[in-house]
Amino acid sequence: MDSLTLLVFTFPAALILLLFIWTKAKTGGSATNRPPGPTGWPLVGNMFDLGDMPHQTMYKLKAKYGPILWLKLGLVNTMVVQSPKVAAELFKNHDIPFAGRKVPDALTAFHFNRNALGMNSFGPYWRVLRRIISMEFFVNRRMNETEDLRIKCTDSMVQWIEEEAAASRANGGPGEVQLNGLFFRMAFNLLANLMLSRDLLESKSMEGKEFFDCLNKISEMAGTPNVSDFLPFLKWLDPLKIKRTMVHHMSTTVRIASKFVKERIEEKQAGKQRAKKDLLDVLLDYEGDGKEGPDKFPVHGVTIVIMEMFFAGAETTSISIEWGLTELLRNPHCLKKLQEEIDRVVGLNRKVKESDMDRLPYLQAVVKETFRLHPAIPLLLPRNTMEDTKFMGHLIPKGTQVLVNAWAIGRDPEAWEDPLSFKPERFLDSNIEFNGQHFGLIPFGSGRRICVGFALAHRVVHLELATLAQAFDWELSGGVTPETMDMQEKFGLTLRKNVPLKAIPKKRIP
Ligand code: HEM
Repeated sequence: MDSLTLLVFTFPAALILLLFIWTKAKTGGSATNRPPGPTGWPLVGNMFDLGDMPHQTMYKLKAKYGPILWLKLGLVNTMVVQSPKVAAELFKNHDIPFAGRKVPDALTAFHFNRNALGMNSFGPYWRVLRRIISMEFFVNRRMNETEDLRIKCTDSMVQWIEEEAAASRANGGPGEVQLNGLFFRMAFNLLANLMLSRDLLESKSMEGKEFFDCLNKISEMAGTPNVSDFLPFLKWLDPLKIKRTMVHHMSTTVRIASKFVKERIEEKQAGKQRAKKDLLDVLLDYEGDGKEGPDKFPVHGVTIVIMEMFFAGAETTSISIEWGLTELLRNPHCLKKLQEEIDRVVGLNRKVKESDMDRLPYLQAVVKETFRLHPAIPLLLPRNTMEDTKFMGHLIPKGTQVLVNAWAIGRDPEAWEDPLSFKPERFLDSNIEFNGQHFGLIPFGSGRRICVGFALAHRVVHLELATLAQAFDWELSGGVTPETMDMQEKFGLTLRKNVPLKAIPKKRIP
């Protein structure tokens, strides 16, 4: 072998070896004072070690590496928090350095990340937007004023369920209904009423339907793993076409939402006022004090925030309701107990309403138990460290992606007795809430970036589950029994049910 041939064969091998040593040195371990984690492969790191269900794989890795896990996802340093104690330390003592967001490439389309609340960097724009939305829109007073809209959308949902059951029977079927789409429609329609004072679905407008379909696709695209997020030098190539597909669907939603915004601006210019301010009014009426943040929110910014609220609120709420009802059908004694409570407190002569919730402790326990086992966003929204930070004895460099595995935390055997069983009773004599103060139950996150729609989601999930239990008895069909119900998950940004819930509703109240 001459020296040139030797060089040709040995050079690539040496390069791979060097890359391997370099990656290994940069992966977890005491040498760099990083938290522990599995050794990664050159370049791709642990990208292919996590499988289809990363939240479950990470949960299993906890046994070997402990509650703080270090991963290298492609070139992205990643820290995963997997116990209530570590989550408490993060949110109570290190919330600010961890308050940035890691933005997926797909959500840079139309500058979504720079205008939306949830993807924005932690800074004056985010702070002002967050303050306005939470203090002027999601406040209790405003939420109380809009109970009629939630009742209207709940009534529609019950009606759709009855219609679908009737259609199934008319076609010779057992009256079985697939529920996920109806829950999503309810949540979407409610958001349209609250954000825009429009009935986008009831009015049968083509625009509403187009907006609805595209938002559904955007939710799906945002949860599809994208190699460009892990190997950023591939962004320009967009090898999986995720950004391009996102741009395509977003262009439709941006077009429709900006039309709604422009119409409202024209109404305002013509001096029209509405009795109840919706979110669009709140955003358009904002005027800064010149001290911090923008003086006005730009039209494109308002359009994106409106889109974001649909995107953040419709799917999370509807899958939580689907998981809740699934657990009730899988545990019929829990459904029976819930129905008995509602019958005792509310009766069968009137519909359950929001002011009943305080007197329905078992319902509250069912909702908590649903969120414990099925947090709609299992890894919360990825945070991003804004500076080098010392965290529980480790050095976490700036730009690290931080995932909080709420799914694993809800199953932590040190925090929960018999953690895999659905037992609402565990909450009956406890003061645990899911408001970000109890770190074993954090489906809405915690700290400064806790879910801004919490107050709304809290009301909707309680009201819908109570209504579904009060309005109907439920039967499974097609030979499915509580024991054989499919409980598999489908991982994305949200955790959907892999096989959608189907059941037969039997009317209980007139
Ligand atoms: C059951 C329903 C819901 C669940 C489980 C849920 C969960 C979450 C979670 C886990 C986060 C990230 C928190 C963190 O990083 O610590 C979040 C953020 C957010 N949620 Fe929700 N959410 C729900 C409903 C809603 C609704 C109804 C809306 C609005 C209509 C909404 C709007 C947002 C927004 C805008 C953010 C970003 C906040 C920020 O970064 O400052 N969510 N949500």
